[in-house]
Amino acid sequence: MTQVRSPRQVPRWRDVQPFLRPRPVERDAVRRRLARCLSVDDVERLARRRVPGAVWDYVEGGSDGEIAMRRNREAFDRVELRPTAFEQVAEPDLTASLLGRTAAAPIVLAPTGYTRLSHHTGERAVAAAAEQAGLPYCLSTYATTSITDVARVAPAGRNWFQVYLMKDRAVTGAHIDEARAQGYEALVLTIDTTVTGMKRKDKRNGFDIPPRLSVRTMAGMARHPGWVADILSTEPLTFATFPEGSEHARWGVSNQLREQAIRPTDVAWLRERWNGPVVVKGVQSVVDAVTAVDAGADAIVLSNHGGRQLDRAPVPLELLPEVVEAVGGRAEVYLDSGVRSGGDVVAAVALGATGVMLGRAYLYGLMVGGQRGVSHVLDLLTDEMRRAMGMLGTPTLADLTPAHARIRDR
Ligand SMILES: Cc1cc2nc3c(=O)[nH]c(=O)nc-3n(C[C@H](O)[C@H](O)[C@H](O)COP(=O)(O)O)c2cc1C
Repeated sequence: MTQVRSPRQVPRWRDVQPFLRPRPVERDAVRRRLARCLSVDDVERLARRRVPGAVWDYVEGGSDGEIAMRRNREAFDRVELRPTAFEQVAEPDLTASLLGRTAAAPIVLAPTGYTRLSHHTGERAVAAAAEQAGLPYCLSTYATTSITDVARVAPAGRNWFQVYLMKDRAVTGAHIDEARAQGYEALVLTIDTTVTGMKRKDKRNGFDIPPRLSVRTMAGMARHPGWVADILSTEPLTFATFPEGSEHARWGVSNQLREQAIRPTDVAWLRERWNGPVVVKGVQSVVDAVTAVDAGADAIVLSNHGGRQLDRAPVPLELLPEVVEAVGGRAEVYLDSGVRSGGDVVAAVALGATGVMLGRAYLYGLMVGGQRGVSHVLDLLTDEMRRAMGMLGTPTLADLTPAHARIRDR
């Protein structure tokens, strides 16, 4: 049998030259960093190096044995997306109706307390990125930027405010009044934190909110002089949604100040006092979902707080189908805990969610590149969604059905 051989020649410069196309050097360090991040996992890896260890653990960590946190991710990893290859679409439409208004995608940026620990630009950067992306942003009661200051940087943004109900209802009432005056669109009542989860990493680090300086945390901070300089040279870290100098501003997270038993009547009270859309976040059972909707919630968020509260809590993605069925279209159903990719968002919508909330994913972006980092994460997710929906053959979110996503046993 004859052997096929390519004819050989002496290598010539003019044949090699076309392949030598040096990339332009990116001088902007943030842009250079972000360009290396092709997924939220890449962003997470880089973020870890940007902040002191105790800050990283505060953001990334889960409660107790972190079983719920791990299971949140495992459930998304088990999802199989099922395409109709004959019907692929080039330009899927990601727009979603969230609380009756169009958003660029079915994504809401979740409330995260003490956001300025991740990056000194904190909530302002997140709100600005959300406004730019056409997505709602939910400011936490435990924010390090005030309700008014967030509205100032994102006046056209869809700003929501997350309520931790205070024992002193006048304090919550003041939040509601300020949110209304600043044009906020919705209130989000979090119901899963009447007892505070125990995060072993924070305990070991001696980390507390407000931060307490221990030898260990100071040693960790010494390795991040840029982060320390940024924090020390900008406004002090406070619970900025409360009046300056008040006991709430100093000790806002304390269980002593927060309501410790939330009842359906509290949802109704909020609905009445706010007179606008109310979302109940932290729903973890079919019974609570129906109770919240019966009490007047316009939307619920299935959430185990990203695995930061009750360990071994139900996984929102697994709970979703039965809750959607029980709610029967009477309210929107959102989900969070573990969303890290556009494929995760597509899976959640296919299984019946109106949209998702994003927590750590955008905080990782914030750590890596402030506002630009958050925008990068949102771009990654929406690009991934576009590709997934294109390959699935679903032109719009309404075309996504449970037939497109199956949670595999393994
Ligand atoms: C650092 C951090 C702080 C948080 N603070 C709040 C908060 O103040 N209020 C609240 O309702 N949820 C809070 N959450 C929970 C998020 O809103 C969201 O439920 C959770 O992050 C979703 O899980 P994921 O991080 O896996 O996306 C916080 C989460 C993190 C990571």
